[in-house]
Amino acid sequence: MSASEHVFRAVETPLFWLGAVTAAWLSVCSVYRLLAGIKVWVLGNGRLVSPAKLGKWAVVTGATDGIAFRCLDILAHAENSIVESKYGVETKTITADFSSVNIYSHIEDELAGLEIGVLGKIQLSHLGQFGSISALLNIPCINRLLLANVCSVFSLMLPPSVTCCDFRKKGAILNISSASGMYPVPLLTVYSASKAFVDFFSRGLQAEYKSKGIIIQSVLPFFVATKLSKIRRATLDTPSPERYVAAELNTVGLQAQTNGYLPHALMGWVSTALLPASILSRHVMGVTLSQRARYLKKQKQG
Ligand SMILES: NC(=O)c1ccc[n+]([C@@H]2O[C@H](COP(=O)([O-])OP(=O)(O)OC[C@H]3O[C@@H](n4cnc5c(N)ncnc54)[C@H](OP(=O)(O)O)[C@@H]3O)[C@@H](O)[C@H]2O)c1
Repeated sequence: MSASEHVFRAVETPLFWLGAVTAAWLSVCSVYRLLAGIKVWVLGNGRLVSPAKLGKWAVVTGATDGIAFRCLDILAHAENSIVESKYGVETKTITADFSSVNIYSHIEDELAGLEIGVLGKIQLSHLGQFGSISALLNIPCINRLLLANVCSVFSLMLPPSVTCCDFRKKGAILNISSASGMYPVPLLTVYSASKAFVDFFSRGLQAEYKSKGIIIQSVLPFFVATKLSKIRRATLDTPSPERYVAAELNTVGLQAQTNGYLPHALMGWVSTALLPASILSRHVMGVTLSQRARYLKKQKQG
């Protein structure tokens, strides 16, 4: 027997077992992911988010439009005569500009005593400009963006606000981050970084509050057809806010971090798990460059 045959014989059995264990592990992971996917995207958990399960009131910020408005519509808590008469619910409006300071004691006073089951943190003042150094030097604009996207998230959620919101060992807090928080988005860097903060903050707090029975979910949508995205026509990958919110509410209690909608979950998986970071970064830069070109052209047209 030649030397190479000796070596082959010696490693044959260990290699066989290494291959078998790897194949078994990959199969178990695939089956687990498939079952978890069916649980979230087919079965869902829609019945959890209801007044009977979590509490009578849902507090939804930024509720005059877009994703939050549909959320209110679906949760049946909008101070809007159409929604009130349609669902027969009591509603209350608190007016506050989240891009300013000193608004939280007023909000706490208004919320005091309400049995709150759901807190949806959704509003945002603006995306910031499409980029480059000149936008980064626009400090007041960045301050407003950070106040609305970052400060409002922890100001509303941290004790004593959480206590003030009367979370009675049950309740759900939904923080709307963005797919732009999953990886850096050049030319929308401040927005992207602020959304990454919302995501990390929510996931960290979920770990802390889980044992207290409170669900804190980080929601990272890709494009939804709203005023903010300036997309009017909904498609499969850019759903209407109604469609997005209906899918998203099914994931509450099942995923601490979610893209909220199956096509977005697939896009999130491809962009973060399959694509190499350098290719993703080049692609995202290309997309934001063409968005900026369209934005500047519209500005020029008046
Ligand atoms: N649409 C998308 O494609 C998309 C994708 C990823 C993430 N998101 C995130 O989803 C969230 C909602 O976006 P959307 O598309 O639903 O936006 P939208 O249609 O523009 O609605 C935003 C809501 O927030 C309110 N708002 C804005 N600035 C505010 C401020 N400073 N203080 C208080 N309320 C304020 C607006 O009220 P007024 O109308 O009175 O200003 C409006 O009710 C945002 O956090 C956004 O980053 C959206």
